[in-house]
Amino acid sequence: MAEIVIRNTNEKISGDDNVRDFLNNQNVLFEKWDASKLPSELQNNFQLTDDQKNEILSVYDEEIRDLAARRSYQIWDVITLSDSTPNLEELLKKFEDVHTHTEDEIRAVVSGKGIFVIKGSGDLGYFDVELEAGDVISVPENTNHFFTLMENRQIVAVRLFIEKNGWVAYPVEDPSFQKA
Ligand SMILES: [Fe+2]
Repeated sequence: MAEIVIRNTNEKISGDDNVRDFLNNQNVLFEKWDASKLPSELQNNFQLTDDQKNEILSVYDEEIRDLAARRSYQIWDVITLSDSTPNLEELLKKFEDVHTHTEDEIRAVVSGKGIFVIKGSGDLGYFDVELEAGDVISVPENTNHFFTLMENRQIVAVRLFIEKNGWVAYPVEDPSFQKA
């Protein structure tokens, strides 16, 4: 189950409906896919072959095409991160810098866990969204955020893009952000 932690107050928000309401108020899309649709040999498998990645895309083909039709995504792929990812430490360091994109960043977690840290509106400050299998999130364009892994350091997610070549991270210097 997804959970939110508001960094300034340590307030926690849990339960899919509460999480969805909070995120929707922040213009962050939150939806659910059925995590149990993934064949058992692909669940908690973080070293996927290209064939297995394609199998994940076909398992969730209907969900992907539904999102694409609603939100104009043109291409999609599967990304996996784990301790067997070469240069994981370096990658995580790079990910953990606050940045923005000119298109939204949508991720459907199909296995493992991850955290998006997002800057809220007004005085809210940054909040952590802890995601697990079945959670779908879209960080809006031009919104300060970064992504990191949780203690288990393992995730498989479907990414969708409007334009892959235009999808660049723009670093943001934000004095109000304190690294945890
Ligand atoms: Fe990003």
